Amino acid sequence: MVACRRSKRVFSGIQPTGNLTLGNYLGALKRFVEIQDSGVETIYCLVDLHAITTWQNPAELSDATREAAAGFMASGIDPARSILFNQSQVPAHSELAWIFNCVARMGWLGRMTQFKDKAGKNRENASVGLFAYPALMAADILVYHATHVPVGDDQKQHLELTRDIAIKFNNDFEVDFFPVIEPIIEGTATRVMSLRDGTKKMSKSDPSDMSRINLTDDSNKIAAKIRKAKTDSAPVPESPDGLVGRHEAANLLHIFAALSDQSIETITSEFGGRMFSEFKAVLTELAVDRIGPVTAELNRLMKDPAEIDRILASGAEQATLIAEPIVRQTHDIVGMIGSR
Ligand code: TYM
Repeated sequence: MVACRRSKRVFSGIQPTGNLTLGNYLGALKRFVEIQDSGVETIYCLVDLHAITTWQNPAELSDATREAAAGFMASGIDPARSILFNQSQVPAHSELAWIFNCVARMGWLGRMTQFKDKAGKNRENASVGLFAYPALMAADILVYHATHVPVGDDQKQHLELTRDIAIKFNNDFEVDFFPVIEPIIEGTATRVMSLRDGTKKMSKSDPSDMSRINLTDDSNKIAAKIRKAKTDSAPVPESPDGLVGRHEAANLLHIFAALSDQSIETITSEFGGRMFSEFKAVLTELAVDRIGPVTAELNRLMKDPAEIDRILASGAEQATLIAEPIVRQTHDIVGMIGSR
């Protein structure tokens, strides 16, 4: 029996497709920084191999990867304390993903709601990569024997699949090798919704730019987007109970709570009875105050792309040192001959 490691190690990733949104910031980046600052070992990855499961223009992919790296650092990820790199520079991810493709079952992958949403009606025309996406995601995490994975709510099903893959691998080969990970889906902003439709997730792929706040938006844009955000005609409720069925209102209050690190109860008791026009003005001020410095730093970092590339290369080297021995041991468990 090969034993798996038990100490805490955090891994998470973001796709470098388009702009980072307020959803990515509140649901992921801000929490990645809190975890890093708590002193836990943290590995963060720009998942460019996942990005190409749908068509990406090559020049835009490299720009988006650098911009996402700048977004991580501008939010507070420190490459001296967290490993930060892009996935394709560490071949161990793809190597383990192949083995996991042979562990995961077609039925498991076919049930993934993200695949169903992204493939849409024309499944026959979706890439094989889009179907196998969650097995690569499991490899991203397990190739480091990571134990905890902070994500937004939309990634929950993929993390359950990661657990299933680890359990099946361990059972099939009678080992205790891959850890059964714990998702970390916590806080008031695990699902930030579109500013135009409170039933839809805020997403970088939404055709309407008004539906989201991007980390690259300046204060005028942020103000315009919040001002035009959809709400209903009722005032802010006195307690969270008054938010039932009011998706857009609930979303704006949750964004305020997350940006100000307060509970939703505190926000409703502070603003209860006020009109949304008034609340939106205060929310704009807060959003500009919190996002403005991140945008400024992101833009500053983007002026030196060679430095970003250097940081990613150095992160990839550190990541490889952890991942390679785990792939080697996996090969050994599976019965593959090799001396590397
Ligand atoms: P991605 O790139 O879609 O999103 C990156 C992170 O941001 C969170 N997020 C949100 N959180 C709250 N509200 C929103 N509107 C919102 N939109 C996005 C996501 O939940 C995620 O945490 N498959 C992953 C990337 C990935 C990964 C991994 C994550 C690849 N390998 C291994 C964790 C571990 C994805 O597409 O995330």
